[in-house]
Amino acid sequence: MSTGELILGIESSCDDTAAAVVAEDGTVLSSVIVSQASLHDRYGGVYPEVASRAHVDKAIPAVRMAIEDAGIRPKDLRAIGVTRGPGLIGSLMVGVDTARGLGQGWGLPVLGINHLRGHLRSADLNERRVSYPALILLVSGGHTLLAHMRDQDTISLVGSTRDDSVGEAYDKVARMLGLGYPGGPVIDRLALQGQDRFGLPRPMLGDGLNFSFSGLKTAVRRLLESDPNLEAADVAASFVAACLNVLTQKCERALVEYPSESLVIVGGVAASPQLREVAGKLCESLDVKLCLPPLKWSTDNAAMIALAAWDYVRAGQGTDLAPTSRLSIEQY
Ligand code: KG4
Ligand code: ZN
Repeated sequence: MSTGELILGIESSCDDTAAAVVAEDGTVLSSVIVSQASLHDRYGGVYPEVASRAHVDKAIPAVRMAIEDAGIRPKDLRAIGVTRGPGLIGSLMVGVDTARGLGQGWGLPVLGINHLRGHLRSADLNERRVSYPALILLVSGGHTLLAHMRDQDTISLVGSTRDDSVGEAYDKVARMLGLGYPGGPVIDRLALQGQDRFGLPRPMLGDGLNFSFSGLKTAVRRLLESDPNLEAADVAASFVAACLNVLTQKCERALVEYPSESLVIVGGVAASPQLREVAGKLCESLDVKLCLPPLKWSTDNAAMIALAAWDYVRAGQGTDLAPTSRLSIEQY
């Protein structure tokens, strides 16, 4: 067993091949992300077989680059943490097999990490931000959920989406507007130039802590069908306003029901400047601390996976390593 002081993280659950080296206190020594966006752009979403093949090509080069960028040698590592789910099964298998092979070759333990737990831990990268109890809003391409954490080890799911995730809705609306993939950043930029003037529906706004975004997406489709000459910026602004209205209202309701010291917003959509701004105002009005990962670690990365792996190493715990496409946030 190695006695090194660093963990190598590997992430390949969707369309980014990532590797990173992270110290126990969350300091990120290196973080490499090989994006596949240009490969999937023409399909308007992630094409699973194309993603798996690209991971096969990029996994080892990404690890090599992460080790080089960190200026370390494999003997400086204590363990390897790799995403085992949820995600695309073929993509996960490539990451887990890569980690297993390296672990065997370098004599290191390999820990299978829940990708959602990784997103949660992203808020503590490079700096400890989260204080407990905490309310978590996880908004990514695959998930939209609210969870309450009494402490760092106790989590309960308190709300989730019944259909599309908010990131998926951004991606689908971007596709309708012919803006390519991923849709989030480009919709955000376009929305800044438009007005919220279409009064799009706010699904389930007054109703509990669950979400639904498929009706909103359909409303955008109908709107575009009703008049193909609408100003795209106004459509984007109306869509973003509806999403933000729902997300902030649900956070506010959850914070009343589950009093918390901090609101933690993680996942790809947490990179949205508009969401960051409205969340800041909400937290100020409720006197709650807003915890956001640095922008570059909101979207998928391997540093968050390595930090999550540290929790197991510290506790002297092993994990399941079998890749699995489904994994709940409560399997934390
Ligand atoms: O967390 P993530 O990188 O991958 C998953 O685990 O799914 O999230 C990807 C999602 C995509 O739907 C993408 O459109 C969205 O995050 N996204 C954004 C922004 N950047 C990425 N959504 C809104 N605003 C952004 N700036
Ligand atoms: Zn993710």
